[in-house]
Amino acid sequence: MSSQTGCLITFEGPEGSGKSTLIKSIASVLLDIGAEIIEVREPGGTPVGEKIRDVLLDKELPELCAKTELLLMVASRAQLVQETLKPALADGKIILCDRYAESSEAYQGGGRELGTAKVREMNNFAIDDIIPDVTFLCMVPPEIGRQRTSSRELDRMELESIAFHDRVYKAYCDMADSDEKRFVVIDASKTPDEMLSSALEHFKKMEHQLLKLL
Ligand code: TYD
Repeated sequence: MSSQTGCLITFEGPEGSGKSTLIKSIASVLLDIGAEIIEVREPGGTPVGEKIRDVLLDKELPELCAKTELLLMVASRAQLVQETLKPALADGKIILCDRYAESSEAYQGGGRELGTAKVREMNNFAIDDIIPDVTFLCMVPPEIGRQRTSSRELDRMELESIAFHDRVYKAYCDMADSDEKRFVVIDASKTPDEMLSSALEHFKKMEHQLLKLL
């Protein structure tokens, strides 16, 4: 076990926000300096979670109701926390997590209009106090996000209405405006290199010894 406790870095944002590219670039920088990292995604990230993901994103299941969707998102998260995040943090690893609790707040709380308070309560049950050290909110207006994803085959969530995705974006904007210290907004209309520089700049301010060196 490492003497340094681990670090949980989560990445959030609406569709087409360039999160995945940012995560890949950060992973590569961290590996170059010898960091021990793990990369996970939500929904999914564990064998159980990946099965849940298949149901959640299956466009042949349009009847999945909003409450079931939320429960499945949270179930996948609970499994990830117990099976992967807690042991990795105890082992001193740096975790790069593609979406986490805030996605449920934005998509199910905002997009599906289930309400943030209810979603937060369910998230708290699932995450057992495993709160990210930093959450990058990659913000891009929905119309630009739509253009970026228009060339690929869309999943059940991406096929949702423009109004749904506008509500998701609004929920993320509200988070960005909240005074939660761990949220760091990255302007996702910038180039991938500029997004990476903004993230690395923030790492220097963090407690984790390795990240400070970046
Ligand atoms: P994914 O292909 O991983 O999309 P992205 O590249 O945008 O992250 O699909 C995950 C989808 O699930 C995405 O549309 C966001 C949605 N989602 C929720 O609705 N609630 C959640 O709690 C999570 C984690 C994801």
